[in-house]
Amino acid sequence: MSPSAPDAATAAHPHAADAKSAARCPFHVEAPLTTSRRMREECADLHEAAEQGDFARAMVAATLTREQYADFLGQMHAAMLVLDQRLAEARATTPAIEALVDDAQMQAPNLRADLEFLAVQPSSVLPRRGSISLIDAANHWAAANPLGLLGLHYVREGANNGNRYVALKLRKAWAHLWDTARPDGFRHLDPYGIDQRPRWDRFKATLDAQPLTPAQQDTLVHAARDMFKAITAIHEDAASA
Ligand code: HEM
Repeated sequence: MSPSAPDAATAAHPHAADAKSAARCPFHVEAPLTTSRRMREECADLHEAAEQGDFARAMVAATLTREQYADFLGQMHAAMLVLDQRLAEARATTPAIEALVDDAQMQAPNLRADLEFLAVQPSSVLPRRGSISLIDAANHWAAANPLGLLGLHYVREGANNGNRYVALKLRKAWAHLWDTARPDGFRHLDPYGIDQRPRWDRFKATLDAQPLTPAQQDTLVHAARDMFKAITAIHEDAASA
């Protein structure tokens, strides 16, 4: 899976991939562990597990029902409403959040629009185990260390890469239900359309430009792992609904 692809530095130095000979080589310079590289590599196990889940597989195979999809969006909305609020509050005190998180990245408005299109009242949704664990994680990091909120956000912003692929599959499978060429019903899974990849590359470049210490990077990785676990729990709730 692409998150573990070798980077440019490895290709440039003949024996960089072979750690032992690299360690002996007086000319070998280890590529600096950028924040985004640490996030990708130190969460790769949870990404793999998230992709292998029943609900993720049903999304990629486009075998889930419209009702399961609406239930999933409802649980995500209940949680992302809180994370959006915590991020907006932390912008004033956390420069990295101010630098990275613009309004287009806030997820509750797209989730609300999708739910209303699917005739579900967002305020009628009761959060279940997974959604509650994400709400608790957002409130925990907001109180303990607001930089952690950016770790939670990194995962939901990165997930848009796979979500866009899932939206393509569902659009094809549900074309008999509504005009799926339009954004209706897919604003959450595909918020940026063809701008997805350039936006993600800009996001990672801006993150890597932030002067974060290794301890601050640890905070981001810790929070990102919390987020993978919370979204995987929301998937499990939707799969068993
Ligand atoms: C439904 C199955 C999924 C598929 C097919 C999928 C696919 C992808 C793809 C193709 C990328 C782009 C990798 C690159 O940068 O080249 C990606 C990145 C990412 N995905 Fe997934 N994904 C899935 C599920 C998930 C889930 C459930 C989460 C969150 C809980 C998630 C979080 C992420 C993150 C954070 C990244 C960015 C990785 C990085 O560069 O740090 N994905 N995914």
